[in-house]
Amino acid sequence: MGIIYRSGQFWQALLVSPSADDMELVRSILPSEQWQLFKKMSPAEQVHCIKTARCLIKKEHRQPDLLAAALLHDVGKTVYPLRLWERVWLVIGNTFFPKWTARWRRETDFAALNENYWQRVFVVFHRHAGWGADLAKQAGASPLCVNLIRRHQDEISMDANSMEDRLLFYLQEADNLS
Ligand SMILES: [Fe+2]
Repeated sequence: MGIIYRSGQFWQALLVSPSADDMELVRSILPSEQWQLFKKMSPAEQVHCIKTARCLIKKEHRQPDLLAAALLHDVGKTVYPLRLWERVWLVIGNTFFPKWTARWRRETDFAALNENYWQRVFVVFHRHAGWGADLAKQAGASPLCVNLIRRHQDEISMDANSMEDRLLFYLQEADNLS
């Protein structure tokens, strides 16, 4: 995916907020505690998650745990909200220095993140799936929903064929399109 497309998505995402229709859809899918969790995300993140859910619905993927996972998959980003320059740096770093950013993701000491502030965004991005899964679990999400959130950035192996893997594939596809 090119830098121009990614940065277009980025600026577009900063300017949006969910419509009343969007929020009604979320309320119809998420029980109350998970709805409260959803509302902790920034408007831009909420819109991205709603787009992901709508994309699944459009393709007739309406499994309830999958839709809940779509709506909450990025909620881990609320644990460590990123500043504007960090989001810009995330796109630039991942596009132009993918080997460095992969190494930082694996090797940066999370406890030392304030010192390594220029690496922090890549660690946060890498860990948000696990953080989000823990938050969703605390809010009463089903084990399947929690697993989908936890694995939403993982590579799916070619021979994986469980129901969870199929749903994960649909979630990742919709996330990439949203
Ligand atoms: Fe996402």
